[in-house]
Amino acid sequence: MGKVYYRDLTLHIPMEVYNPAEDTFLLAENLKVRPGDSVLDMGTGCGIIAILAARKAETVLAVDVNPHAARCAWVNGKLNGVSDRLSVVCGDLFKPIRGNLKFDLITFNPPYLPSDRRETVKPTERGWLSLAWSGGGTGRELIDRFIEEAPQHLRGGGRILLIQSDITDVGETVRRLKARSLKASVIAEEKVPFERIYLIEAEKPSG
Ligand SMILES: C[S@@+](CC[C@H](N)C(=O)[O-])C[C@H]1O[C@@H](n2cnc3c(N)ncnc32)[C@H](O)[C@@H]1O
Repeated sequence: MGKVYYRDLTLHIPMEVYNPAEDTFLLAENLKVRPGDSVLDMGTGCGIIAILAARKAETVLAVDVNPHAARCAWVNGKLNGVSDRLSVVCGDLFKPIRGNLKFDLITFNPPYLPSDRRETVKPTERGWLSLAWSGGGTGRELIDRFIEEAPQHLRGGGRILLIQSDITDVGETVRRLKARSLKASVIAEEKVPFERIYLIEAEKPSG
C-alpha cells in the first residue's frame, strides 16, 4: 500500500491499483465541475478525479472494473470527506449503469496502450494493474466502446472529458465523437516521456 498526495488530498493506493500519473493530472488540472452537476468518473482507479469532482458536484458515480480500485476509491472518498456525495460500483464500462441514467459530466482516463494483454488478464497484482493501461490489440478497444455508449448517458449540454495519447490516434477519437453528434476538440495537451497526451472535451448539444 502506498500513499499519494495531490493538493490537499491524501490517497491510499494498493499495489493492484493505478497510481495517478501525468494523464491523471492533465485531467485533474482541467476538471471544471459546476455546483449541482451529476458526474460519472469512468475507470476511477484510486478515485482521485471522482473525489475532486465531488467537492463541487451534487453527486458523483465512480466505476471501475477492478474490484481493488472500486474498494480503494470508496475508502479514499471516505478519508477525504466526500462519501456523502460519492457512490462507487465495480463493473465493465456502462454495464452497471441503468440505460436512462444521464450525467452533466463524464470523465475517463482510459487504458490506451496497444497490447493483447487484456486477453490474458489473471486476477493477480500485475493482472489487475494491466487493466489500467492495456487498451487491446490496437489500444482503442476501451476508447471505442466508451464513445459508442457515453453519449446516451449525457444530458443536453453535458460534457465528456477524455484523455488520449498520440499512440492511439487522437484524430480518430475526435472523428468518432463528432460522428455521435458531439462537438469535440482538444482542450489541453502535454509532452511526457515516449508520448504526447491530450485532453479532449466533447459536448452534447442542448435540447
Ligand atoms: C489509466 S487508469 C486511470 C485511473 C484514474 N482515473 C486516474 O486517472 O488515475 C484506467 C482505469 O480504468 C479501469 N478500467 C479498465 N477497463 C475498464 C472497464 N472495462 N470498465 C471500467 N473501468 C475499466 C482500470 O481498472 C483503471 O483503474
